[in-house]
Amino acid sequence: MRDVLGELESRREAARQGGGRKRTQAQHARGKLTARERLDVLLDGGSFEEFDMFVEHRCTDFGMDRSRYSGDGVVTGWGTINGRPVYIFAKDFTVFGGSLSEAHAEKIQKVQDMALRNRTPIIGLFDAGGARIQEGVAALGGYAEIFQRNVLASGVIPQISVIMGPCAGGDVYSPAMTDFIFMVRDTSYMFVTGPDVVKTVTNETVTAEELGGASVHSTKSSVADGAFDNDVEALMEMRRLFNYLPLSNTSDLPEIECHDAGDRVEDALDTLIPDSANVPYDIKELILKVADEGDFFEIQAAHAQNIVTGFGRMGGRTVGFVANQPMVLAGVLDANASRKAARFVRFCDCFNIPIVTFVDVPGFLPGTAQEYGGLIKHGAKLLFAYAEATVPKVTVITRKAFGGAYDVMASKHLRGDINYAWPSAQIAVMGARGAVEIIYRKDLDDPEKIAEHTKAYEAQFLSPFVAAERGYVDDVIMPHSTRRRVARALRLLRTKELSNPWKKHDNIPL
Ligand code: HXC
Repeated sequence: MRDVLGELESRREAARQGGGRKRTQAQHARGKLTARERLDVLLDGGSFEEFDMFVEHRCTDFGMDRSRYSGDGVVTGWGTINGRPVYIFAKDFTVFGGSLSEAHAEKIQKVQDMALRNRTPIIGLFDAGGARIQEGVAALGGYAEIFQRNVLASGVIPQISVIMGPCAGGDVYSPAMTDFIFMVRDTSYMFVTGPDVVKTVTNETVTAEELGGASVHSTKSSVADGAFDNDVEALMEMRRLFNYLPLSNTSDLPEIECHDAGDRVEDALDTLIPDSANVPYDIKELILKVADEGDFFEIQAAHAQNIVTGFGRMGGRTVGFVANQPMVLAGVLDANASRKAARFVRFCDCFNIPIVTFVDVPGFLPGTAQEYGGLIKHGAKLLFAYAEATVPKVTVITRKAFGGAYDVMASKHLRGDINYAWPSAQIAVMGARGAVEIIYRKDLDDPEKIAEHTKAYEAQFLSPFVAAERGYVDDVIMPHSTRRRVARALRLLRTKELSNPWKKHDNIPL
């Protein structure tokens, strides 16, 4: 008996060594942790249960039968984060560069199947060189099996991908179908084809960082939802994000003890809006003052900064915040902002997370660049997302709510449950200048008359009361009472029941 116990221990020890000391040292020299070290940071201490530690590849070509490692380049299993279960897989770059063989893919599929069956989230840590070149088509099949499972789990359980090294070729599309992708600055990159192929095909000379580093994907392409400075920071932030998320689309929202009074008054909000309608202010101040304890996990913080999206809590329960940001492009809606917010709204709706929307939007961004870039279709994504969402929707208009953008931003007409406006709100078809220049075109060369018309337009339309008189806002509230009013609204809406007509699925403008 003792011999078998000894064999188990020595086999386990061999698996834990991954690709060996030299490759582990190389991993550390690049500023990266190994797969197992990453799991130690991500999961609660002692909670990790590993599966398939002894799995090996079955390839015999190219001398592969003489080169086998227990685990085959991916560590899989489950553990807990702050006591709540999560399935994980972590690519081990020290074994064949974390590349995907048939057996490696089967390990990932197994935890994907378990996660879906048990309605438990799954997190993948990526650090890999794509398909195992020696295995050829078997690896391609493995990828497609993983993609299929990503799609079936989408909207049922949260799926998160963290890119912590190379992520190329077949490896990029599984993360791309998960809910969130995060990257580590300087050590990770993602692309479909690497710099060498790019050079051959397009003759462009580009580095891996320029082609697909965290700086590119978290700002320009929006492939990534955030970037962190190192492995430890990224993993600690994933623990933080995880705390906001329900385990599945049918489980309750996580609720933590709340030490922040729901009726906290914030007098500073009464002076947040500058006297001039053209002077910006930081909408994040409002989010931080309204959310429990000023705790806010921002999604896509560096992309389309004219809209802010992220998770906070009200009364200890998760809320998704969406807010136009007057500090950037005056908070206008453009194609990128619309896509960013639409995806966030849809995530919240999938997982029953109430949405709080703060509105200060001068409209959609005009111009050929936007129209050629499909603003109509991208703007429609946000409109569609808000309109189909059945979760509680609470909206506060702080200043401008002009034109189509008024409609889009969780208006009453899109089944907004509770819609408030601050006294500084201006709910109108457009700003005064634009309106006057159209209605009084004949007076355009008389500045005095134009000024008079503008003043009259402002007095008549640029207030919350025209909308309030029609019931388009439920109340005009004092800015300092925003937290109390939103918190009360959300509490009321906990019992909300609303569903859309049966359909196979909708046809959101993609
Ligand atoms: C097998 C691989 C491998 C792969 C790396 N290795 N990638 N083994 N298949 N795809 C092995 C290396 O042989 C090496 O083994 C170890 O991993 C580390 O690799 P290095 O090249 O020494 O590391 P580094 O210099 O950091 O470069 C990392 C890398 C590079 C950029 C990822 O290895 C690379 O370009 N790999 C190939 C990428 C690729 O073309 N993959 C196929 C994509 S096609 P030793 O024994 O020396 O430690 C694809 C199609 C799927 O994925 C499409 C499905 C939709």
